[in-house]
Amino acid sequence: METIQKLNVHELRKAIRQEYCEVAKNPQKGFHFLSGPLVKTLGYTWDIIENIPESAIESFAGVGNPFKLGWIESGKSVVDIGCGAGLDALIASTMVGIEGIVTGIDMTLEMIEKARWNAYEMRVSNARFTQAFAEQLPFDNETTDVVISNGVINLCPNKSKVFQEIFRILRPGGRLQIADVLLKHPVSEAAKDRVHLWTTCVAGGLLETEYVEILQSVGFRNIQILDVYDVFGSAPVASSAAKFQAKGYNIYAEK
Ligand SMILES: C[S@@+](CC[C@H](N)C(=O)[O-])C[C@H]1O[C@@H](n2cnc3c(N)ncnc32)[C@H](O)[C@@H]1O
Repeated sequence: METIQKLNVHELRKAIRQEYCEVAKNPQKGFHFLSGPLVKTLGYTWDIIENIPESAIESFAGVGNPFKLGWIESGKSVVDIGCGAGLDALIASTMVGIEGIVTGIDMTLEMIEKARWNAYEMRVSNARFTQAFAEQLPFDNETTDVVISNGVINLCPNKSKVFQEIFRILRPGGRLQIADVLLKHPVSEAAKDRVHLWTTCVAGGLLETEYVEILQSVGFRNIQILDVYDVFGSAPVASSAAKFQAKGYNIYAEK
């Protein structure tokens, strides 16, 4: 029988970085989630992806579509948490225009490098990309209008800390437009200690009630969980996601 050890955050981050380094460098390999062409299934319409470089689309690993929760207005300041190869950040950069600014952060350097290259390819001047952790955002208090994120917070063991950080950087009246993994069946405490179940987006997933509770405890209001996407069901590599009915959801909240 497998020996259960307490989750080691350092090991977890190392495993997540290894996985997403592969998604950046070897996107055709096949993963436990649908990548690349999945964008169309998630309702990213042609008009919003037509100018996005193919190399941003091929490494897309999101689980939903933050823009289905609303258009981001011109001039806004946007932060994309766990931006990956930059697809959502680059879409947001076209929405906010040259009066606005988008900053993508990700802890995986290969993703940040790819996102920077994609921004260069697209000749975008209002998007920048920085290596950082979601739990320690490199922004001043109340400097951001909209936080977007796609498929990331389920990978963070300390979700309260991530949402506190998001709340801190949002201006009053600012909003969260994210997509994340939620489960229908709870994961046992023992399973939560297994790094492999984390990297396959299961152990870090929460039930909808748990997710809403965290958002409320941090101070968010008008929380809405909308749309559901079966992003693991027909993935090239099978995982335990089906057992826990892990799916992608769009999530909206206001400060
Ligand atoms: C499933 S991918 C999604 C990437 C991107 N949002 C997209 O839609 O393609 C998750 C990303 O989150 C990043 N990530 C995971 N945990 C993180 C953390 N604690 N802080 C910053 N980035 C993190 C990973 O490096 C990876 O690039």
